[in-house]
Amino acid sequence: MDYQTAIRGAFFDIAQVCDSADAIAQHARYLEDGLLFIQSGKILALMPWQEGERYLDPHRGYTDLRGRLLLPGFVDAHVHYPQTEMIGAFGEQLLEWLTTYTFPVESQFADEAYAKEIAEFFIQQLVSNGTTTALVFCTLHPESVEALFTEALRLNMRLIAGKVMMDRHAPDYLSEDARQSYRQTRALIQRWHHRGRLGYAITPRFAPTSSPELLAAVSLLREEFPDTWLQTHLSENPNEVAWVSDLWPEHERYLDVYHHYGLTGERSVFAHAIHLHHSEWQCLHDTGSAVAFCPTSNLFLGSGLFRLPACWQHKVRMGIGTDVGAGTTFSMLRTLGEAYKVGQLQSYRLRASEAFYHATLGGAHALRLDDKIGSFAPGKEADFVVIDPDVTPLQRLRNRRCQDIYEQLFVLMTLGDERNISETWVNGERVWSTAPVG
Ligand code: GUN
Ligand code: ZN
Repeated sequence: MDYQTAIRGAFFDIAQVCDSADAIAQHARYLEDGLLFIQSGKILALMPWQEGERYLDPHRGYTDLRGRLLLPGFVDAHVHYPQTEMIGAFGEQLLEWLTTYTFPVESQFADEAYAKEIAEFFIQQLVSNGTTTALVFCTLHPESVEALFTEALRLNMRLIAGKVMMDRHAPDYLSEDARQSYRQTRALIQRWHHRGRLGYAITPRFAPTSSPELLAAVSLLREEFPDTWLQTHLSENPNEVAWVSDLWPEHERYLDVYHHYGLTGERSVFAHAIHLHHSEWQCLHDTGSAVAFCPTSNLFLGSGLFRLPACWQHKVRMGIGTDVGAGTTFSMLRTLGEAYKVGQLQSYRLRASEAFYHATLGGAHALRLDDKIGSFAPGKEADFVVIDPDVTPLQRLRNRRCQDIYEQLFVLMTLGDERNISETWVNGERVWSTAPVG
């Protein structure tokens, strides 16, 4: 076998896209002693050690990671990099939180040097938490997009991002008109979309900060660049939902506003989607749109409980988002632990197999990237995370009682965080390690 890198360790992934939690459990794959072959940034093969050993080149050897658990890299389906510095802002729910804390911080991204500092810090947070792909909000300023894409390109990450578009109900220092928003977005798409592994997401912030002209401009961009992504917010908070119904009385429900302008569809990702009517779930399904479930944010802002069972029932694509800075962590492990608790409050039992599916292949499916990332299938890009399940005294004690991989994964999502991420690999290269990368 003509390989560049071979890695021995324990591997867990889900073999295929699934339409129920039971199907996920059936398609989960665990290799306690496996061997992964990588060539030119892609996965060549993953097989049991006994089968793979014969393909090893004695001169090249292999990287021995026995005792560690390798998972496909995590997919963060919704996050705001400019809010990194204001994570954990006290006391408010969504609309007041935006005006009190968020807009002032986002205004700083007119400054290129500041944008570069935060972009580099943010990308380090992603990889040190095992996140290899993210769908990211920047700010209104093209500089914020330049800074983020420049750093993601340096690491050759599969990252999708876009400039926030908003032209009303925002402070003057953070507003633009629809024509400028269109022009700047268009230029950024032409400059960045499909450069390396990057993708561009057209990013109207949400309906309340969009005029009809702005959404018409978004619609035009969607037609001009049909393979870009689209990200926005939907039905996060009851006051927000009521405001949308005041602002857009001609549309019966929140999602109808976006749907009217052709913003639903493949590669459209709606963050939160908590307070939805049956007909909105149906529309998300019918249009092939996706949603992002952001448990730490929804609890932190007191927004409500995402209805995972309704999402399955309507067969709507879903990924997990950290939603920093309303979300309280970059760690997908901690985020999954909170997702479990959101399930508990609705008598829904989120199994570890399902949780890790959403964080990997399911998230990739939501972003329409499941042909490229999300599992160890041959031909996929070699983005993965190396986990040490035993980094704290409590974890070591608890793990002694674990009966199988599922219990181990569940303990990881309950007690785990960035300390458990010992290495992160992007495109076949180690980009982060608890030991310094040489
Ligand atoms: N809705 C509109 N903008 C935002 C934002 O920045 N964060 C969250 N959580 N919701 C939003
Ligand atoms: Zn958000």
